[in-house]
Amino acid sequence: MTAAGVPAAACDLTTQLGAARLPNPVLTASGCAAAGQELHRFFDVAELGAVVTKSVMLAPRAGRPTPRMAETPSGMLNSIGLQGPGIDPFCEHDLPWLAERGARTVVSIAGVTVDEYAELAARLRGHPGVVGLEVNISCPNVEDRGQVFACDPEAAARVVAAVRRETSPMLPVLAKLSPDVTDIVTIAGSCVDAGADGLSLVNTLLGMVIDTGTLRPALAGRTGGLSGPAIRPVAVRCVWQVHAALPHIPILGMGGIMTGLDALQFVLAGASAVSVGTAVFADPRAPVRVLAELRQALVARGFLRLADAVGYAHQPAQNGLRPPGSPGTVPPAREPAHRLPADTP
Ligand SMILES: Cc1cc2nc3c(=O)[nH]c(=O)nc-3n(C[C@H](O)[C@H](O)[C@H](O)COP(=O)(O)O)c2cc1C
Repeated sequence: MTAAGVPAAACDLTTQLGAARLPNPVLTASGCAAAGQELHRFFDVAELGAVVTKSVMLAPRAGRPTPRMAETPSGMLNSIGLQGPGIDPFCEHDLPWLAERGARTVVSIAGVTVDEYAELAARLRGHPGVVGLEVNISCPNVEDRGQVFACDPEAAARVVAAVRRETSPMLPVLAKLSPDVTDIVTIAGSCVDAGADGLSLVNTLLGMVIDTGTLRPALAGRTGGLSGPAIRPVAVRCVWQVHAALPHIPILGMGGIMTGLDALQFVLAGASAVSVGTAVFADPRAPVRVLAELRQALVARGFLRLADAVGYAHQPAQNGLRPPGSPGTVPPAREPAHRLPADTP
C-alpha cells in the first residue's frame, strides 16, 4: 500500500514496444546480463518485461585485449569488444534456455557490414520467445573506413532497412543509438524512416581513463564505453529530445538507471520501457528492485497506468505537482512535437 492509500499492485505497468506487448517496462541492458543465465540465480528472468541479450555477431569473437574495464566516478568504462560465441551457438543454447523459462527475449544484433546485420536478422526468424530485435549500430562500418553506423544517418538507415526487410512485420525492430552525435534527433528520424518500430536510447559514451601509475591508458583498447549514473543526464536528455520530435515512436530508455526514481525520469522524458545495465554489476537483483520501486513511485504520484506517465514531463507545469488522476483536473494539452531549439545550448 502506498502513501496515497492505493495498493501498488493496482498500477497497470503493461507497455508496448511496437507490436510487442510487455507485462512491465523493465528490461535488462544488452551486454550487462549475457543471455540471462547468471541473473536467473538471483531472480526469475521471466519476471522482467524482457531480457535484452548481449549483442550477437555472425561469427565467434574473442573481444578486445585486457584490461577492458576501468572504474570511473559514478560509472565504468568498458571495452569488451563484443565478445561472444556467434549466432549459431546462441540460437542453439541461449534462445531455447530463455524460451523454456518463459522469458520474453529481445535479441541484440551487431555487424560490421550491412549484409551481416541482414544475415543475423534472417537467422533469427521464427525462434519462440523472441519478441524483438535491438539493432546495435554503435559498431564500426568496415565498408566505410570504420565510421560508426550510428554516427551517420544514411549508414544507420541502411542497416535498419536491411534488418527490417529480413524481419517479420510482427517483430519490432529497435535501433539502438549512440549519444556521441551532434544531433540524435536526425539519426533517430532516419532510422524510423528506414523502418525502425522503436528506438533504444542510449548506448555508452566514448571515454578514456589514463592510469597515472603506468602513465598509459587504463584500458588495453585505450578508449571504452562509459556507462552508469555518470551518463544518466545525457541519456535522459536524448530521450527527451527524441520523444519531443517523434512522440509516437516507442523508446527503450537506458543509461545509469540504479533506482525506480531513475527509471521514472526516463519514463517522464518519454520512454515506454527502460533497460537496467551497469547497476547489475553491484546488485544483480537491480532489475526487479527497479521494477518494484518504479511501481511504487508511479502510484505515489497518482499514476495508475504507466502509459499515462510516458512523456508526462513534456506537459507544461501547472500549479506544481498535480497527480494526473486527481478529481477536477483536466490534463493539460501536450506541447507540439517539435525540436525545442530553445533547449539546445
Ligand atoms: C560491460 C558492458 C557491455 C555492454 N555490451 C553491450 C552490447 O553488447 N551491446 C549493446 O548494444 N550495448 C552494450 N552495452 C551498453 C548497455 O547496453 C547500455 O546501453 C549502457 O551501458 C547504458 O546503460 P547503463 O548505464 O545502465 O549500463 C554494454 C555496457 C556495458 C557496461
